[in-house]
Amino acid sequence: MQWGWSDRLSLPYAVMDETHKEFVELCAALSEENPSTFLQRLDALITHSVAHFDQENTWMAETDFPPKGCHEQEHNAVLEIMREVRQRFEAGDEELGARLAEELPHWFEHHVDTMDNMLARHMAALQKEASVLSA
Ligand SMILES: [Fe+2]
Ligand SMILES: [Fe+2]
Repeated sequence: MQWGWSDRLSLPYAVMDETHKEFVELCAALSEENPSTFLQRLDALITHSVAHFDQENTWMAETDFPPKGCHEQEHNAVLEIMREVRQRFEAGDEELGARLAEELPHWFEHHVDTMDNMLARHMAALQKEASVLSA
């Protein structure tokens, strides 16, 4: 069975869900068995992830969110892994690509449950506060 989006991944901040659906789609595409297009699919995921993580890092910076350092570090670490795998795949280690495709969904689910979950609640609370103040 192929991994994909499910409500299990949904967080209380809708904008984030939209970005996460895109991540899930690109991440699931990594497991297609077609080595000739693997790098292309990985590049699409890396490009998405840079923007996705930047957005979250910016939200945290703009709202002085305390777990920022820890959360940013998880983003940087996984990006580094994606880039490392890219390099090694290009150098001939195709097996590593398959391992990345297998491991990333687990990483993402854990990241959503912990880091992104906290951030989504924080952003939703701020949004609610702002709407109360402007009412
Ligand atoms: Fe995220
Ligand atoms: Fe995140």
